[in-house]
Amino acid sequence: MCGIMGYIGDREASRILVDGLRRLEYRGYDSAGVATLVNGHIEVRRTVGKLDNLEKLLATSPLDGTIGIGHTRWATHGPPSEQNAHPHRAGQVVVIHNGIIENYLELKEALVAKGRTFHSETDTEVISQLIDEHMSQGLDFLAAARAAVKQLEGSFAIVVFCDGDKSRLLTAKTATPIVIGLGEGENFVASDIPAILDHTRQVLFLEDGEMAEVTRQGVNVSTFDGEPVEREPRRITWDPITAQKGGFKHFLLKEIHEQPQALIDTMLGRIRQEEGDVWLPELDQLGTEWSNIRRIYLTACGTAWHACLVGKFILEEMARIPVDVDYASELRYRKPIFGPDTMLVAVSQSGETADTLAAVEEAAAAGSKVLSICNVLDASIPRRSRAVLYTHAGPEISVASTKAFTTQLTALYLLSLHVGRQLGRLDEARGRALVHDLVNIPSLIQETLTRGKQLEKIAKKYGHASDFLYLGRGINYPIALEGALKLKEISYIHAEGYPAGEMKHGPIALIDEELPVVVLLPRDPMYAKTLSNLKEVEARGGRIIAITDAPTPDLEEIAWEVVTIPRANHMLAPILLSIPLQMLAYYVACYRGTDVDQPRNLAKSVTVE
Ligand code: F6R
Repeated sequence: MCGIMGYIGDREASRILVDGLRRLEYRGYDSAGVATLVNGHIEVRRTVGKLDNLEKLLATSPLDGTIGIGHTRWATHGPPSEQNAHPHRAGQVVVIHNGIIENYLELKEALVAKGRTFHSETDTEVISQLIDEHMSQGLDFLAAARAAVKQLEGSFAIVVFCDGDKSRLLTAKTATPIVIGLGEGENFVASDIPAILDHTRQVLFLEDGEMAEVTRQGVNVSTFDGEPVEREPRRITWDPITAQKGGFKHFLLKEIHEQPQALIDTMLGRIRQEEGDVWLPELDQLGTEWSNIRRIYLTACGTAWHACLVGKFILEEMARIPVDVDYASELRYRKPIFGPDTMLVAVSQSGETADTLAAVEEAAAAGSKVLSICNVLDASIPRRSRAVLYTHAGPEISVASTKAFTTQLTALYLLSLHVGRQLGRLDEARGRALVHDLVNIPSLIQETLTRGKQLEKIAKKYGHASDFLYLGRGINYPIALEGALKLKEISYIHAEGYPAGEMKHGPIALIDEELPVVVLLPRDPMYAKTLSNLKEVEARGGRIIAITDAPTPDLEEIAWEVVTIPRANHMLAPILLSIPLQMLAYYVACYRGTDVDQPRNLAKSVTVE
């Protein structure tokens, strides 16, 4: 949810911290702060709002020091305010934190009873208070931090340092991520890889229940109980430029345009064109034959849930295994029939979504096999899964998901093909045709991207509307939902997605001359039926915006706008149809002047329930 950055070395810490936070700003952005150790005393600067505000404050009130921590916050306890912004100090101890301390009220009461005074409404402050309390009882900094983290319940990733100790940062984590970047005579701590890529590619990931002592010379990892842990560093191959905006006005637009490459990267090394098959050796980790699997549960949240809805169509068609799709936030509280003959496939860009993680844990505990589809290396969800199929979308910075979504669809297509071939439900010839179609998709996306100018015009023409309706059928109905979600998220216009055939059961009452109705109309067996649904829209004056690969005269006659896209096989059409909807949402948001990359009230990764 929030961004964490820590530095220890011989360079000016505040600059490095702010730059790192800038790369993480997408994770949370209602307030920000940094703290550095200056002449043996920690000084803190915090502001409400964006990092620009913090930078302005640092310009008038600079911070020296070569050791420090920085944070961008998205409020969970207490409103956004300077007082609630991190870092939080208690006595000599200063802390930053991601996650939620579930027992903080209990801990706070006990600390208040000992005479401690709290200065914020946050759960985080109990951490610095606890450590400082233990130090006042005679423990050294490391022992005090260890004692404190053992008392915390909930999810946390923390970085902490202390007035009297110039030599180290301490970091600890349970459910939310911490990555340590290894430099020469300097080291870094962050909540996500992009923050440190400018400085190093050698990283260590902390596991749950571990803490690390980070000095200029090195890193000591241990469990909360003090058992030493040996951990090999890993090398990250992301280019720092990919984490920046390139020539685009917004990350969102850049990420929309990165989709051809993102899909190629997701297929890379996995396609066996000759055999009409795909190669997914990572699935061997599942330790089962697909013939033992009777039912697949697909689960996710938000956009990733829309990918699951499409995935059901593809998996059932190619693999002929029954598939259930659930919101992770619902799945975790119902009583699904999990067992050794079920497979849970959890789809998550960040790999940190709390509800999806909980669903994974439920399924694993009930004996189901768990496979995750994820974009972030070694995130919590992949780590809890038996096998992981990584999408290779690269860092997705804009809060609204685009390239992660279409790479999720790609991964689900690869998975379905794999299972279909393994079970003999797709023969070699059919497999070859399906692989061939997939391999062509990146260039069809590239062609679809050239419709940008037309969509920009449409956005200007209809962008004043207060509501939009999105219609699709069959496998493209989830894309109508996704189109509506994208518009809502970034332009703040109310939008609903519906299966076109459902319209006459209620939503038709909404249609009037003000309502833009975006309809997805690929040439498939549903084409004629959807067209007849559209005639009902036209009869009531609705403004039809059609996205189609079949601009027939009948359609041209009733639609106000027709956006023509290339033809793809029906199981890949959802990928292509998503592209104009992403661009429409983008240009409407630009027309309305919203904060495209960081829409209000949203955060990139939702690590709380
Ligand atoms: C919408 C969006 C969200 C996420 C959802 C799940 O554009 O990005 O709806 O899809 O919060 O996030 P992940 O995929 O990280 O689990």
